[in-house]
Amino acid sequence: MSAPRGQFSTNIGFLMAAAGSAVGLGNIWGFPTKAAGNGGAAFVVVYLFLAFALAYPALMAELTIGRYARRNMVQALRIISNGPVSRFFGGLTGFGGILVASLILSFYAIVAGWMVAHLAEPFAALFGAQDAAQWLTDNSTERNLLFTAIFSGLTMLIIASGVEKGIERWSTLLMPSLIILLLLLIGYVLTQPGALSGLEVYLMPDFSHFTPKLLISALGQAFFSLSLGVGTMLIYGSYLSQQESLPRLGALVTLIDVGIAFTAGLLILPAMYVAQEAGSQIFSASGELIAGPDLILQVLPALFDTMGKAGIVVAITFFALMVIASLTSSISMLEVPVAFSIENLGVPRRIATPAVGLIIFGISTVIITHFDTLFGLAVSISTEYGQPLLGIALCLFAGWVWRRDQLLAELKKGHPNIEQTLFWRIWPWYVRIVCPLLIMTAFVHSVI
Ligand code: PHE
Repeated sequence: MSAPRGQFSTNIGFLMAAAGSAVGLGNIWGFPTKAAGNGGAAFVVVYLFLAFALAYPALMAELTIGRYARRNMVQALRIISNGPVSRFFGGLTGFGGILVASLILSFYAIVAGWMVAHLAEPFAALFGAQDAAQWLTDNSTERNLLFTAIFSGLTMLIIASGVEKGIERWSTLLMPSLIILLLLLIGYVLTQPGALSGLEVYLMPDFSHFTPKLLISALGQAFFSLSLGVGTMLIYGSYLSQQESLPRLGALVTLIDVGIAFTAGLLILPAMYVAQEAGSQIFSASGELIAGPDLILQVLPALFDTMGKAGIVVAITFFALMVIASLTSSISMLEVPVAFSIENLGVPRRIATPAVGLIIFGISTVIITHFDTLFGLAVSISTEYGQPLLGIALCLFAGWVWRRDQLLAELKKGHPNIEQTLFWRIWPWYVRIVCPLLIMTAFVHSVI
């Protein structure tokens, strides 16, 4: 017999872990820069709407399936199936989730590795090791391999310790630290010259940007940010006690995710305009705000450099924030293939974690050594194709394949008076029809 299944010991533990998975580079980097490039508050409003109207229902599908089946995505979708055909497709979708989660981790760990290197740089500078500091900020293959390895190692260490001692303990420690660091940074940046122009760009809506492109970009962002489609939320749901109300916890996770994305905008955009005030170029040649790696790895570090001694503290705080946000997300990605290896292949966690972790690190290595061709491809396959298609499949499973009485009974656990809620009246239909149709429409649009 295999070891008993892990479980979160408290609902706060679950909340920190699920919110930790959701809150990541997508919130602190992706959201603010997408908002800046898509009409500021116009994007924020559309995003808020989509997060609650579409991502939250899809999140609920994953959590409910996971908690009912108490298994990883492959097993869970087979368990809720009602015949050989749906069981086959359930298994296939589950495998898809595992592959896509692993692919996301393989590029995410590279970006997180950059963050670790930039976190180390101010320490090297502080100790007078100028050459080392320079090496840490130069984008070399060796540096990227080393720091992706360090970050992947940290992720493996946490996952090897299991659900309660690894995921729950570290998320509960790291998430509050993340919020404190974020607020400290905002407090500091908002007092700097130029910050208010950034706030204006972020918070003044420009509805001329209100196009299908904005909708698709907001939808993709919401899906990535809530870690949907790939079975992370499903597996976290499977470790949740039946005494908790799923709709309430799911709503809290969505609120925290959206709240931190919004708050991160109050840091990143003002910081960009402070950098401009300090002499940095924040627009690309085509007149758009710089959003990609140049923003985080050049514009902001150049800004910290102008701040003297305080800049060292600010740089450390900022990159610590980025590393923490990445780590609570990367552990949730690694847990997906690891849980599968434990439950379906019978491999103990202590062996499954390094084995799977090393395979994924191998993929990261290939991406690093062929960065220009493979990085964008990995991002696009996993987030533009994988996540929406798997999201549709999960909604179809929850809405059409799974027996309705079982689904409703699962929702009632931990929420006995749920029948009086709006959620109960709307969600089961919503996840059946509206969610798959909307995701499909956006997907077709974006592919065309
Ligand atoms: N939600 C994470 C972020 O915003 C990314 C993620 C995607 C995590 C998919 C898990 C699964 O950075």
